[in-house]
Amino acid sequence: MPGPTSPALPRLIGHRGAMAHAPENTLAGIDMAASLGVTMVEFDAKLTGDNVPVIMHDETVDRTTDGSGAVADMDHADIARLDAGSWFDPRFKGEPVPRLDDMLRRCRARGLAVNIEIKPCEGRTEATAEKVIETALAEWPSDAAPPLISSFRWDALLVAAELAPHWPRGLLIDDRPEDWEDWLGPIAPATLNVGWRKLSDGEMADYRATGLPVLVYTVNEADRARRLFAAGARSLITDAPDRLAPAVAALAD
Ligand code: G3P
Ligand code: MG
Repeated sequence: MPGPTSPALPRLIGHRGAMAHAPENTLAGIDMAASLGVTMVEFDAKLTGDNVPVIMHDETVDRTTDGSGAVADMDHADIARLDAGSWFDPRFKGEPVPRLDDMLRRCRARGLAVNIEIKPCEGRTEATAEKVIETALAEWPSDAAPPLISSFRWDALLVAAELAPHWPRGLLIDDRPEDWEDWLGPIAPATLNVGWRKLSDGEMADYRATGLPVLVYTVNEADRARRLFAAGARSLITDAPDRLAPAVAALAD
């Protein structure tokens, strides 16, 4: 069964908000991204120990908050007390770890389209995908551009395909497995979201041959952005949209 068609994709997508300029995966990061003029943001969703979907990249809270411990071992009440801003800059002191529903509401308030990356803690893929999709379906207005749902865990995308077949899916690729094309049928992705560090010319050609838009992460230099656009990338996921603006200005759309 064919999947949903590609969402309207801007040339730049803010990574974890705009993580060069504000603490990653926070509401302040969303505000920052909006103030920099991006129209779409990516962020990472996982489950707390008591199954609340929150926005955080790592398996532990250690790097991006003033606490310590594994997200999967902590209740939401404990995570809600943490400061996810001071580590980045004291002016973001007190910035909370957002729940997914709060994050989606803030994105709507700022008029931003979203790319929700499902990033499950070890051993929690199915539960995470289910809860993230359930929450997003309840929160995201049906008349808004649908979220792009991506994951390195392609089994999470199978859950997304089942629960929200009408929402576009992005197949995240870092180290490409031999059988990657076998997943295209069951997942029916709308986009291929690939890392530039391991992207060869041959792989780019393969991806473009699928006819799917190719999104490349995480691109922060204008020269690299120019090369990737010239090679056929549709969109770039970036920590610093302001730095890539000159590369986008030269494009037709
Ligand atoms: O979704 C693109 C990018 O966010 C994937 O890598 O590790 O930053 O979540 P990571
Ligand atoms: Mg991510």
